[in-house]
Amino acid sequence: MKAEVLKILRNAPGYVSGQSVCSALGVSRTAVWKAVSQLKEEGYEFDAVSNRGYRIVKYPDIVTEAEIMSRLDEGDIVEHVVYFDSTDSTNNQAKLYAEKGAAHGTLFVAGQQTAGRGRRGRQWVAGPDSGILMTLLLRPQIDPPAASMLTLVAAMAVAEAVSEECIGSECRIKWPNDIVAGGKKICGILTEMSAETDWVNYVVIGIGINVNTQDFPEEIRQTASSLLLEYGHRVGRSGIIASFSKHFTKHYNDFIKETSLAGMVDSYNAILANAGREVRIEDPAGGFTGRAIGIDETGALKVDRGDGIISSVIAGEVSVRGLYGYV
Ligand code: BTN
Repeated sequence: MKAEVLKILRNAPGYVSGQSVCSALGVSRTAVWKAVSQLKEEGYEFDAVSNRGYRIVKYPDIVTEAEIMSRLDEGDIVEHVVYFDSTDSTNNQAKLYAEKGAAHGTLFVAGQQTAGRGRRGRQWVAGPDSGILMTLLLRPQIDPPAASMLTLVAAMAVAEAVSEECIGSECRIKWPNDIVAGGKKICGILTEMSAETDWVNYVVIGIGINVNTQDFPEEIRQTASSLLLEYGHRVGRSGIIASFSKHFTKHYNDFIKETSLAGMVDSYNAILANAGREVRIEDPAGGFTGRAIGIDETGALKVDRGDGIISSVIAGEVSVRGLYGYV
């Protein structure tokens, strides 16, 4: 109900009368008044003029279910939002809910995490309400090895959302799934899966974006940054989430048709931070150095080893690092 009221008011060009909200939603004036009161408590500011109605004049930077749902369009991948003021990890919650039958397209969002997890057993630390901490639950009908491609779909969608919402130069992707701006990491993605040999039960894609973070611990100050620090202005988190959802939906729908990234290879390579750079591939089966070329339709990174051999590196087992810096 709050989301519906919010959506009507957000999309209206001017004042909206209480009566027209009631008619559009088929609810009583009291119900609309109650929703407006709750929104006020959450920090939305209204201008109410008699005989004209309501208009929202200030939106808080919150990522509640109503705020996110009110920004989504029909056909969007995100159909449900589960919001926590604070939780251990949105990936953990997504997996718990998935085990209990939560639907494809459920987005888990937190204001704060007490045990945020990164890749390779690392922690993901973010101050309260300073960043985006979210996990998308999917139930795709694909073979388990194809699930890693979804991480690239998410990275592409984050990069597009950031470029859309932030004023300034474009951000880029460090293969396979780190988003960088000004040469520093502003987003990480942790994809986890529950699968049988030939059947995916569910995939959870956890995304951490440093949005309005002002400072980082000494250990990561050289490599980590935030949208605020790189673009020089505060950015509303729900706008980025909605934009992410829109871009993810498009790329996911293309991907799922033929389990291929062919539809986004060119766009991904156009913003690939590693492209043309010397990289070191750390592989349990043996590392090597080469010049990164770009991804193919499976999401593998093509690396020119300089001896006439082009290797295709598959995400998952390996790590890639720039020879001359983080990228
Ligand atoms: C990485 O770069 O190491 C991946 C970081 C992923 C962090 C996000 S924050 C939301 C979700 N919940 C978690 O515990 N981790 C992911």
